[in-house]
Amino acid sequence: MAIYRSVLDLIGNTPMVDVSALSPNPDVRIAVKLEGQNPGGSIKDRIALSIIEAAEKDGLLEPGAELIEPSSGNTGIGMALVARLKGYHLRVVLPANVSPERRQLLDVWGAEIIESPGSEGSNGAVRLARTLAAEHPEWVFLYQYANPANPRAHYEGTGPEILRDCPDVTHFVAGLGTSGTLLGVGRYLKEHNPDVQVWAVEPPTGEMVDGLRNLDDGYIPPIFEEQGGAELLDRKTIVKPRQSIEWTRRLAEVGIFAGISTGAAMAGAAKCAETIERGSIVVISPDGGWKYLSTGAWTDDLDVVEARARATIYF
Ligand SMILES: Cc1ncc(COP(=O)(O)O)c(C=O)c1O
Repeated sequence: MAIYRSVLDLIGNTPMVDVSALSPNPDVRIAVKLEGQNPGGSIKDRIALSIIEAAEKDGLLEPGAELIEPSSGNTGIGMALVARLKGYHLRVVLPANVSPERRQLLDVWGAEIIESPGSEGSNGAVRLARTLAAEHPEWVFLYQYANPANPRAHYEGTGPEILRDCPDVTHFVAGLGTSGTLLGVGRYLKEHNPDVQVWAVEPPTGEMVDGLRNLDDGYIPPIFEEQGGAELLDRKTIVKPRQSIEWTRRLAEVGIFAGISTGAAMAGAAKCAETIERGSIVVISPDGGWKYLSTGAWTDDLDVVEARARATIYF
């Protein structure tokens, strides 16, 4: 182990762990890549660093620059960490009903919070951020949903790490939020082996799972359209919030304390394992369970947890 120069050098190179004990098919191995091991606690540290450093290269960020980003979760936290270390001021637009852990983490890194109406969810935060960015041309709006440095972080980092650590990967399963993970990793893996199958996990339309969205809900991320997401994905599979929570609990049985979207991705991987004869599935775990403790996901009655998750944006 080296002594690292900066916490930013700890981003990436996350470990993978075999969870085949949870596979419904004994001939299908399942490995989970633990992105919660990143220093800001999620996979979004990768894209936060990538989009901020791309903006620096493009000359968009003067020392002390001000940034604005709509995020109800991990991207805001990752960007707040990177902005703190690089001396930028970040404003995060958040729906008013996000969980307290989310706000507290943004406070830790010194980000400023601007509230958008809770009833409008993350789409409302996006709308308000766009309006504010138009009113304040001096604020830099890097917008993860439309920034090619988002999928690039996964094409250059997450994807090569997966192939290095699991060269016989046959299927890649991940939740779809901005689609950056699926686009970047999926393209990288297919370039090396066109037979690798890429599966996206979405919540049902109108329902929330973690940082995930259903593309039929009316917003298609520009990166998804520009980078041929529809052609890249081999399968989309719907996972309900309840199944996500059940699988999050199952993961805890094998010692993995992960966020609810990891449960969703695992539910998708289990479906995948059931449909194939043999193979090796890699699943992304975007974050650890810490930010979701107040959902009661591991301890409370499933109906209570589901109802709570409907009232508050935990993710
Ligand atoms: C917890 C969590 N899981 C999954 C995702 C989806 O990843 P991506 O935006 O790369 O599609 C996100 C994105 O915000 C997230 O925060």
